[in-house]
Amino acid sequence: MISERMAKELNKQINAEMFSSYLYLSMSAFFEKEGYKGFAAWMRAQAQEEYEHALKFYDYLIDVGGVVELEAIEKPKNTWESPLAVFEAAKEHELHVTNLINNLVAVSIEEKDYATNIFLQWFVTEQIEEVATVSEIIDKFKMIGERNESLYFLDKELGERKVAGSEN
Ligand code: FEO
Repeated sequence: MISERMAKELNKQINAEMFSSYLYLSMSAFFEKEGYKGFAAWMRAQAQEEYEHALKFYDYLIDVGGVVELEAIEKPKNTWESPLAVFEAAKEHELHVTNLINNLVAVSIEEKDYATNIFLQWFVTEQIEEVATVSEIIDKFKMIGERNESLYFLDKELGERKVAGSEN
């Protein structure tokens, strides 16, 4: 049986992942409004992934006999200065989520909850990938500049992203 403290922290993470999903969907809507279909599709796929992350926590909590308590999702920001500013905000957000995951790992150790500790390892690895992916995009923006022509090609490239699990 999971401890009350660990269950409370995992519930908080369900909310944080749902907020991530909401934030990326808001970024997607911003890109739709600005006419960047590719960036919008990329962010929409990201929003979908975050929803899946929330469900991983949700399912785990149920599997270990915890009680799921869904809280209100905070309103995300809906406007940014430029496409690059959106991706920079996404990176900042992922660094914040990495901290949250690391804190969860610390709590699992304090609680001697080895099952949760193992469950969290997937997220530790996932965060490395998420930060690396968005950093790579930011590097591309910086390499090609923010002229309309450059943004057109980057928008096209990012639009090719597939939603996880939809390849077949
Ligand atoms: Fe679920 Fe991007 O962290």
